[in-house]
Order: sequence, then structure tokens, then C-alpha cells
Amino acid sequence: EQFRESKLAERQATLKDFFGGNDQKELPGELLRRMFQFEELMIKYRSAIREVTTKLEILNDELSSSRERNPIESIQSRVKRPYSIAKKLRKQGKPVTVESISDSLNDVAGIRVICPFINDIYDVADMLLRQDDVKLVSKKDYIKNPKENGYRSLHLVIEIPVFFSTQKEMVRVEIQIRTVAMDFWASLEHQIRYKNDSAEVREIADELKECADIIAQTDLKMQQLRQRMLPDVPR
Ligand code: GTP
Ligand code: MG
Repeated sequence: EQFRESKLAERQATLKDFFGGNDQKELPGELLRRMFQFEELMIKYRSAIREVTTKLEILNDELSSSRERNPIESIQSRVKRPYSIAKKLRKQGKPVTVESISDSLNDVAGIRVICPFINDIYDVADMLLRQDDVKLVSKKDYIKNPKENGYRSLHLVIEIPVFFSTQKEMVRVEIQIRTVAMDFWASLEHQIRYKNDSAEVREIADELKECADIIAQTDLKMQQLRQRMLPDVPR
């Protein structure tokens, strides 16, 4: 507590230096307390991302030595920015408070796993969900059921325990698992469409969907080619 108070004082002084100008008024303690609370919550999300990333890296390392192949091509992660957190809470009609973040949002901690082949996606998901400290909260299979616009990926929301000095916290992480090809489409579609709902974008929707379907066919074809060349070693 004493440490907390001194940190609060330090924060107060820093904020005053940067934003206080000549005004020597104290910043409200309540505001500082909430900023502290927010930061502590973000540390939990960042820790959860590290936990899950390590789990995924371990699986990839193990399989690359035992099966001589890497089911994971790359892993990206991010913690949702404060601006986007507030925007999403507002959109959901939830109060924009630190408490409602962990109650209402599943995607503050986000991990994207890029796999070479479609099979790898389900292998990685199964291996992760089999671990006894991983709790599945929700699963959306946009590969079996692509979105109307052609988007494909497997989405998992999981909860994992993160151990801190005095307590264990269950933290939610959203995991998007997709192939290199699905990621190629999603990244470009995002750039083309981003915050743009103009008539032009609606006009090209059909063509974007067409691209998604061609890419999905290519994904299947590549998987068939691989199976012909390298039948899976039974586990
Ligand atoms: P959000 O409010 O966006 O989180 O939607 P949701 O709660 O219904 O979750 P959903 O699983 O549908 O999508 C969550 C995330 O998947 C998004 O934030 C994107 O990162 C990704 N995503 C979903 N749909 C699309 C899409 O059409 N295009 C692209 N590029 N990404 C998408
Ligand atoms: Mg989202």
C-alpha cells in the first residue's frame, strides 16, 4: 500500500509536469487511482498473452522435432488500445469503467496464429484446448461457416490462470487461428475496407468475396498436395 501511494505521488507529479502547465492544482486522487487500476489490468492481459504465446511456441517446438514440421508459421499479439476499448464499451452500451472491461470484453488480449495448412489450425486448437489449465469460453469456426463477406478463421476465446505474487487471476484471451492464405485475405480486406463504408466499398464486396473463395480453394489444393507428398505420421 505504501509503495502504491508513493507510485501515485510520482504519477501525480509526472502528469503535472507534462500537462499541468502553470496550474499547480492537484490532480484528483480518484482519477489517478483509476489510471493505476487500468494499468494493472493491462499488465494482466499482457501476462496472459505471454503465457499463451509460450504454450503455442512449446507445441511448435515439440512438433518440429518429432514430426519435422512446423504447424505454426508465426504468432502475433496485441493488447487492445485504450481508445478502442472505450469505443467498444460505448458501442455495447456498457459503462466505460475499468470494472466493465473484464466483465464485457473478450478481446482485450488478442493472439493471431498463422499456420501453413488448414489441418494445422485444428491441430493447434485441439492441442491447446486439451491442456488442463485452458478453459474454452467460446469458439467460432469461420472456416466451416465463413462470414458472408468471405472471412475465414477459427476464433477461440479462452480463459487461463495467471499467477501473481498474492493471487491467481483468470484472464481471457481471444485467439484467431488462420492459414497464411486466410491471413493474406483478411489483412488486405481490412486495409481496403478499414473505416470505410462508402458505396464504392459495397460495390467491391462481391469481388472481395470472390477472392476469398479462390483463396479457400487454393488452401484446400495446397493441403491435398502436401498430403500426397508427406502423409501424416500417426501420433
Ligand atoms: P468484434 O466486435 O469485431 O470483436 O466482433 P465479434 O465479437 O462478433 O467477434 P468476431 O469473432 O466476429 O470477430 C472478431 C475479430 O475477428 C475482429 O476484431 C477482426 O480482427 C476479425 N474479423 C472478424 N470479421 C472480419 C472480417 O470480415 N474481416 C477481417 N479482416 N477481420 C475480421
Ligand atoms: Mg474484436
